[in-house]
Amino acid sequence: MNNTKNIVVLVSGGGTNLQALIDAEKRGELGCGKISCVISSKEDAYALTRAADNGIKTRVLVRKNYDNIASYSIAMRDALIEENADIVVYAGFMTILDENVCDAFENRMVNVHPALIPSFCGKGYYGLHVHEEALKKGVKVSGATVHFVTAECDAGPIILQKAVEVLDDDTPETLQLRIMQEAEWKILPKAVQLLCDGKIVVENNRTYIK
Ligand code: GAR
Repeated sequence: MNNTKNIVVLVSGGGTNLQALIDAEKRGELGCGKISCVISSKEDAYALTRAADNGIKTRVLVRKNYDNIASYSIAMRDALIEENADIVVYAGFMTILDENVCDAFENRMVNVHPALIPSFCGKGYYGLHVHEEALKKGVKVSGATVHFVTAECDAGPIILQKAVEVLDDDTPETLQLRIMQEAEWKILPKAVQLLCDGKIVVENNRTYIK
Protein backbone atom coordinates (compact mmCIF):
# COMPACT_ATOMS: atom_id res chain seq x y z
CA MET A 1 0.00 0.00 0.00
CA ASN A 2 1.29 3.47 -0.84
CA ASN A 3 1.13 5.71 2.23
CA THR A 4 2.74 8.72 0.57
CA LYS A 5 0.94 12.00 1.26
CA ASN A 6 1.08 14.72 -1.38
CA ILE A 7 2.04 18.05 0.15
CA VAL A 8 1.18 21.15 -1.88
CA VAL A 9 3.01 24.27 -0.65
CA LEU A 10 1.51 27.73 -1.23
CA VAL A 11 4.00 30.61 -1.49
CA SER A 12 4.18 34.31 -2.37
CA GLY A 13 7.80 35.36 -1.80
CA GLY A 14 11.33 34.30 -1.03
CA GLY A 15 10.44 30.80 0.01
CA THR A 16 12.86 30.20 2.89
CA ASN A 17 10.17 28.18 4.67
CA LEU A 18 9.65 26.16 1.48
CA GLN A 19 13.43 25.56 1.49
CA ALA A 20 13.25 24.33 5.10
CA LEU A 21 10.55 21.85 4.00
CA ILE A 22 12.58 20.70 0.98
CA ASP A 23 15.66 20.20 3.20
CA ALA A 24 13.61 18.31 5.80
CA GLU A 25 12.21 16.00 3.12
CA LYS A 26 15.76 15.31 1.86
CA ARG A 27 16.78 14.37 5.42
CA GLY A 28 13.79 12.03 5.63
CA GLU A 29 12.08 14.26 8.20
CA LEU A 30 8.66 14.77 6.58
CA GLY A 31 7.39 11.34 7.54
CA CYS A 32 5.34 9.95 4.68
CA GLY A 33 4.94 13.43 3.16
CA LYS A 34 6.31 14.36 -0.26
CA ILE A 35 6.25 17.90 -1.67
CA SER A 36 4.46 17.29 -4.95
CA CYS A 37 3.67 20.83 -6.10
CA VAL A 38 4.32 24.48 -5.23
CA ILE A 39 1.67 27.08 -6.09
CA SER A 40 2.57 30.76 -6.03
CA SER A 41 0.26 33.77 -5.87
CA LYS A 42 3.00 35.83 -7.58
CA GLU A 43 4.70 35.18 -10.91
CA ASP A 44 8.11 36.42 -9.77
CA ALA A 45 8.31 34.72 -6.35
CA TYR A 46 11.84 33.37 -5.76
CA ALA A 47 10.18 30.37 -4.11
CA LEU A 48 9.31 29.17 -7.66
CA THR A 49 13.03 29.00 -8.50
CA ARG A 50 13.71 27.00 -5.33
CA ALA A 51 10.98 24.54 -6.31
CA ALA A 52 12.18 24.19 -9.92
CA ASP A 53 15.81 23.74 -8.74
CA ASN A 54 14.59 20.78 -6.72
CA GLY A 55 12.52 19.22 -9.49
CA ILE A 56 9.18 20.13 -7.90
CA LYS A 57 6.21 20.98 -10.14
CA THR A 58 5.15 24.64 -9.98
CA ARG A 59 1.95 26.50 -10.75
CA VAL A 60 1.10 30.18 -10.56
CA LEU A 61 -2.32 31.50 -9.58
CA VAL A 62 -2.16 35.28 -9.55
CA ARG A 63 -4.62 36.87 -7.13
CA LYS A 64 -5.15 40.00 -9.20
CA ASN A 65 -6.43 37.94 -12.13
CA TYR A 66 -9.54 37.15 -10.07
CA ASP A 67 -12.32 39.58 -9.20
CA ASN A 68 -12.62 38.64 -5.55
CA ILE A 69 -11.48 36.30 -2.79
CA ALA A 70 -14.33 33.85 -3.48
CA SER A 71 -13.44 33.29 -7.14
CA TYR A 72 -9.72 33.07 -6.30
CA SER A 73 -10.47 30.57 -3.53
CA ILE A 74 -12.54 28.38 -5.85
CA ALA A 75 -9.73 28.39 -8.44
CA MET A 76 -7.23 27.47 -5.69
CA ARG A 77 -9.46 24.69 -4.38
CA ASP A 78 -9.79 23.26 -7.90
CA ALA A 79 -6.01 23.43 -8.43
CA LEU A 80 -5.40 21.66 -5.10
CA ILE A 81 -7.87 18.92 -6.02
CA GLU A 82 -6.26 18.56 -9.48
CA GLU A 83 -2.88 18.14 -7.78
CA ASN A 84 -4.30 15.43 -5.48
CA ALA A 85 -3.23 17.44 -2.45
CA ASP A 86 -3.49 15.52 0.82
CA ILE A 87 -1.92 18.31 2.87
CA VAL A 88 -1.61 22.02 2.10
CA VAL A 89 1.06 24.23 3.64
CA TYR A 90 1.04 28.04 3.59
CA ALA A 91 4.75 28.95 3.59
CA GLY A 92 4.84 32.73 3.36
CA PHE A 93 1.55 32.69 1.41
CA MET A 94 0.20 36.22 1.69
CA THR A 95 -3.35 35.83 0.37
CA ILE A 96 -6.37 35.03 2.49
CA LEU A 97 -8.53 32.19 1.16
CA ASP A 98 -12.16 31.72 2.17
CA GLU A 99 -14.21 28.72 3.31
CA ASN A 100 -14.33 27.32 -0.24
CA VAL A 101 -10.78 26.11 0.39
CA CYS A 102 -10.68 25.95 4.20
CA ASP A 103 -13.70 23.64 4.44
CA ALA A 104 -12.45 21.35 1.65
CA PHE A 105 -9.12 20.91 3.49
CA GLU A 106 -10.30 21.12 7.10
CA ASN A 107 -7.51 20.01 9.49
CA ARG A 108 -5.29 19.30 6.48
CA MET A 109 -4.04 22.84 5.84
CA VAL A 110 -1.43 24.61 8.00
CA ASN A 111 0.15 28.07 8.11
CA VAL A 112 3.33 29.40 9.69
CA HIS A 113 2.90 32.82 11.29
CA PRO A 114 5.92 34.86 12.48
CA ALA A 115 4.64 35.71 15.99
CA LEU A 116 3.19 34.00 19.05
CA ILE A 117 -0.55 33.91 18.22
CA PRO A 118 -2.77 35.54 19.51
CA SER A 119 -0.23 38.39 19.51
CA PHE A 120 0.44 40.33 16.32
CA CYS A 121 -1.85 38.31 14.06
CA GLY A 122 -4.96 38.68 11.94
CA LYS A 123 -5.65 40.79 8.87
CA GLY A 124 -2.78 43.16 8.01
CA TYR A 125 -0.21 41.28 10.09
CA TYR A 126 2.11 39.66 7.59
CA GLY A 127 5.82 39.58 6.77
CA LEU A 128 7.92 42.42 8.14
CA HIS A 129 4.87 44.34 9.50
CA VAL A 130 4.52 41.71 12.22
CA HIS A 131 8.03 42.41 13.51
CA GLU A 132 7.62 46.20 13.20
CA GLU A 133 4.55 45.97 15.44
CA ALA A 134 6.29 43.67 17.94
CA LEU A 135 9.19 46.14 18.26
CA LYS A 136 6.78 49.11 18.54
CA LYS A 137 5.01 47.36 21.39
CA GLY A 138 8.32 46.59 23.08
CA VAL A 139 7.78 42.89 23.67
CA LYS A 140 10.79 41.02 25.07
CA VAL A 141 9.77 37.70 23.53
CA SER A 142 8.24 36.94 20.15
CA GLY A 143 8.38 33.77 18.07
CA ALA A 144 6.46 31.70 15.57
CA THR A 145 3.28 29.65 15.44
CA VAL A 146 2.13 26.83 13.17
CA HIS A 147 -1.65 26.45 13.15
CA PHE A 148 -4.45 24.94 11.12
CA VAL A 149 -5.97 27.31 8.59
CA THR A 150 -9.64 28.21 8.96
CA ALA A 151 -11.66 30.88 7.18
CA GLU A 152 -10.89 33.28 10.05
CA CYS A 153 -7.38 34.69 9.55
CA ASP A 154 -4.73 33.23 11.94
CA ALA A 155 -7.45 31.81 14.22
CA GLY A 156 -7.31 28.05 13.61
CA PRO A 157 -6.14 25.51 16.21
CA ILE A 158 -2.49 26.00 17.22
CA ILE A 159 -0.18 23.03 16.55
CA LEU A 160 3.30 24.22 17.60
CA GLN A 161 4.81 27.46 18.92
CA LYS A 162 8.38 28.49 19.67
CA ALA A 163 9.48 31.59 21.56
CA VAL A 164 12.43 33.75 20.45
CA GLU A 165 14.08 36.49 22.52
CA VAL A 166 13.85 40.08 21.27
CA LEU A 167 17.19 41.94 21.59
CA ASP A 168 17.61 45.64 22.46
CA ASP A 169 19.23 46.44 19.12
CA ASP A 170 16.83 44.44 16.95
CA THR A 171 15.44 45.94 13.76
CA PRO A 172 12.40 44.38 12.06
CA GLU A 173 14.84 42.68 9.67
CA THR A 174 17.13 41.17 12.34
CA LEU A 175 14.15 40.01 14.40
CA GLN A 176 12.52 38.48 11.32
CA LEU A 177 15.67 36.53 10.46
CA ARG A 178 16.22 35.26 14.04
CA ILE A 179 12.58 34.13 14.28
CA MET A 180 12.93 32.30 10.97
CA GLN A 181 16.20 30.63 11.95
CA GLU A 182 15.32 29.73 15.52
CA ALA A 183 11.62 29.01 15.15
CA GLU A 184 9.89 28.93 11.75
CA TRP A 185 12.37 26.71 9.89
CA LYS A 186 12.19 24.19 12.76
CA ILE A 187 8.54 24.07 13.78
CA LEU A 188 7.03 24.19 10.26
CA PRO A 189 8.71 20.95 9.03
CA LYS A 190 8.04 19.33 12.42
CA ALA A 191 4.31 20.17 12.29
CA VAL A 192 4.09 18.93 8.69
CA GLN A 193 5.77 15.66 9.70
CA LEU A 194 3.30 15.20 12.56
CA LEU A 195 0.38 15.92 10.25
CA CYS A 196 1.60 13.58 7.50
CA ASP A 197 2.04 10.81 10.04
CA GLY A 198 -1.47 11.30 11.44
CA LYS A 199 -0.20 12.30 14.88
CA ILE A 200 -2.34 15.43 15.42
CA VAL A 201 -5.77 15.21 17.04
CA VAL A 202 -8.06 18.26 17.05
CA GLU A 203 -10.75 18.60 19.74
CA ASN A 204 -12.67 21.74 20.66
CA ASN A 205 -10.21 24.08 18.91
CA ARG A 206 -7.20 22.50 20.68
CA THR A 207 -4.66 20.12 19.21
CA TYR A 208 -3.00 17.16 20.90
CA ILE A 209 0.07 15.30 19.65
CA LYS A 210 -0.42 11.53 19.85
C1 GAR B 1 7.78 34.27 6.95
O1 GAR B 1 8.32 34.97 8.05
C2 GAR B 1 6.37 33.81 7.25
O2 GAR B 1 6.18 33.42 8.56
C3 GAR B 1 5.60 35.08 6.97
O3 GAR B 1 6.23 35.66 5.84
C4 GAR B 1 7.58 35.22 5.77
C5 GAR B 1 7.79 34.54 4.44
O4 GAR B 1 9.10 34.15 4.25
N1 GAR B 1 4.23 34.79 6.76
C6 GAR B 1 3.26 35.61 7.12
O5 GAR B 1 3.45 36.70 7.60
C7 GAR B 1 1.85 35.09 6.85
N2 GAR B 1 0.90 35.81 7.63
P1 GAR B 1 9.53 33.03 3.19
O6 GAR B 1 8.84 33.34 1.87
O7 GAR B 1 11.03 33.22 3.09
O8 GAR B 1 9.15 31.69 3.74
